[in-house]
Amino acid sequence: MSENKKDHNNEHKTTDHKHTEHNATEQGTAEKGAAEQGVSEQRAKDMQGLGFSTRAVHAGQEFDPITGAVIPPLHMSTTYHPHSVGNLRLGYDYSRGTNPTRDNWQEQIAALEGGAYGISFASGLGAEDAIIRSLLSPRDRIVMGNDVYGGTHRLIDKIHGPNGIRHTPVDMTDTAAAVQAIREDATAMVWIETPSNPLMKIADIEALTAAGHEAGAIVVVDNTFASPYLQSPLALGADLVVHSTTKYLGGHSDVVGGAVVTNSEELADKVRFIQFAAGNQSSPFDAYMTTRGAKTLAVRMERHCDNAEAVVKWLRGRKEVTKVLYPGLADHPGHHVAARQMKRFGGMVSFRLAGGADAARAVAESTELFRLAESLGGIESLMNYPAEMTHASVKGTELEVPDDLLRLSVGIEDAEDLIADLEQAFARL
Ligand SMILES: Cc1ncc(COP(=O)(O)O)c(C=O)c1O
Repeated sequence: MSENKKDHNNEHKTTDHKHTEHNATEQGTAEKGAAEQGVSEQRAKDMQGLGFSTRAVHAGQEFDPITGAVIPPLHMSTTYHPHSVGNLRLGYDYSRGTNPTRDNWQEQIAALEGGAYGISFASGLGAEDAIIRSLLSPRDRIVMGNDVYGGTHRLIDKIHGPNGIRHTPVDMTDTAAAVQAIREDATAMVWIETPSNPLMKIADIEALTAAGHEAGAIVVVDNTFASPYLQSPLALGADLVVHSTTKYLGGHSDVVGGAVVTNSEELADKVRFIQFAAGNQSSPFDAYMTTRGAKTLAVRMERHCDNAEAVVKWLRGRKEVTKVLYPGLADHPGHHVAARQMKRFGGMVSFRLAGGADAARAVAESTELFRLAESLGGIESLMNYPAEMTHASVKGTELEVPDDLLRLSVGIEDAEDLIADLEQAFARL
């Protein structure tokens, strides 16, 4: 955020509402109030009493006061014309710092996570990098899950490791072991990913957050797999939530993005400074697309969960499958914790095959509706072979994943068609 923007925000926080309304009507579309941070924070607070889907549809989506357009326009302008030198219109000067479309999306994601501040990035890893870069210093240590997303491990190990950030991978499903790892040495950050990618392990957010706070650490939860519809880490005590919005929030596999949400003004200011100063923000178009996707998150997630449950039931009946990893199963080791901290159990399912790596590859390459691809969380079903795809970068490390494992991102198609697709792929084994 530029000094101008900062000053302007402060000015607005202490200025009465009329000033904003006056500008909005007099100056036109580009000035609509979303940019005004004090007003936007107030609106986010007002939204908190409303249901999830109402927030998803309305947060950050005030109609345009000039034209009446129900959907706020996409603001592509890189730069903004001030009233006079140093006298900005609603704080906008240059789009790397602030942009009305990005502001709208940030307000929406904050409302969905039940947080006061949303900060959006060009990718999930960009968001993670901003957290680490802004909040940690050389010699600081991160205690993190031993099965976090491979790219998260690569970022922490290969980019921040050489800069002096240390990390201790632990089995976060073993709360006692994780708490011990947090206590045994100074811990600056606890990094939780639950459910984890791709092993679907469940970590107890509340217990680990309490241990992290006791040790003076900042607690981060990667909420990508659950989405804010199914899990609310801030309400469980976490300091920061991070997302790859490329997944369920965008929801249509057509936009890469990331976001951070927090209730702490201090943490938000630090992360936002990296967004601005390191030039890592989401583009207006990407923010616009993600906003559109996120409006339907609740209905999509319900359908993802329904279909995942049907697929899990079918997989459990197959002799070719040695194990189904899905937290909704009563015999999943994390089931009770998941039932406590999640609304439902999500659309991601992993399973292991008796035929080992060859069988896993054969199934991965034989499905038709389940498209073989890296990503997840879109409306279409995707198939992933983690050992050689998403998690190839952790081969040979303690985060290596089994080579007989397949990961499904179960889409919103008709469940019977998805099962028929798996059936024909299994028939080829
Ligand atoms: C759980 C999780 N976190 C973070 C990321 C990184 O997000 P992005 O690919 O948007 O950079 C991913 C990507 O797959 C992920 O699955």
